[in-house]
Amino acid sequence: MAKVVAGNWKMHHGPVATERFFSRFRPEVRDDSVRLVFFPPDLSLSTAIDSARTRADFGVQNIHWQAAGALTGEISAEMAKEAGAALVLIGHSERRHVFGETDAEVDRKVGAAVRAGLVPVVCVGEQLEERRAGRLDEVLRRQVGAFAGSLAGVAEFMVAYEPVWAIGTGETATPGDASEAHGIVRDALGALGRAPVLYGGSVKPGNAAALMSARDVDGVLVGGASLDPDVFARIAEAGAGAG
Ligand code: 13P
Repeated sequence: MAKVVAGNWKMHHGPVATERFFSRFRPEVRDDSVRLVFFPPDLSLSTAIDSARTRADFGVQNIHWQAAGALTGEISAEMAKEAGAALVLIGHSERRHVFGETDAEVDRKVGAAVRAGLVPVVCVGEQLEERRAGRLDEVLRRQVGAFAGSLAGVAEFMVAYEPVWAIGTGETATPGDASEAHGIVRDALGALGRAPVLYGGSVKPGNAAALMSARDVDGVLVGGASLDPDVFARIAEAGAGAG
């Protein structure tokens, strides 16, 4: 299976920077044996789709579970789909820990994505204190258990394992840590089938190949290192080598 190399731009790159990114990224992509995915900010989605001119899929970083309503500042799965998104990140650790999103809300969003025909990329991951307390297994099973029911019979979805202590910190899980956690996620998904499980947390060109070669790691979800076209292209190359 081709490795998934996904960039989560978070709140970076407006439309102007998005166009500039792709004009530099396009000539760098030589190998089409990875599945490239970009999660730009909503305001840059249409520019990304129009200016990429490279084989890639696009998604949004968050949705509300309602289709429409008096919910200032929110967007729905249906709108994202209409605007050209194919995927949606759900339950990213910044949504959970900065904006207080709960397991129950994550589940509602997964349901909304599925109804609208978006591929959910659901994020899970433990905090440092939870890891230190030996609660990795329990936390991942609780997080996956909260939304697994909404994925029954769904043809395509992904899970991203992003240990909170490794996001934006320069600390990376070892390939062995990633394999262990991905094994737990896979086990918790059980009968839902073999969905891609991505690793995220300080992925860089220097560690991407080793992470993507690790057992049960089907790709990466990259934050900071996805913002620079040259750097992200090197991570995509690492994925092509590991696939
Ligand atoms: P960094 O790669 O900046 O650590 O971010 C990871 C992440 O949160 C991707 O969703």
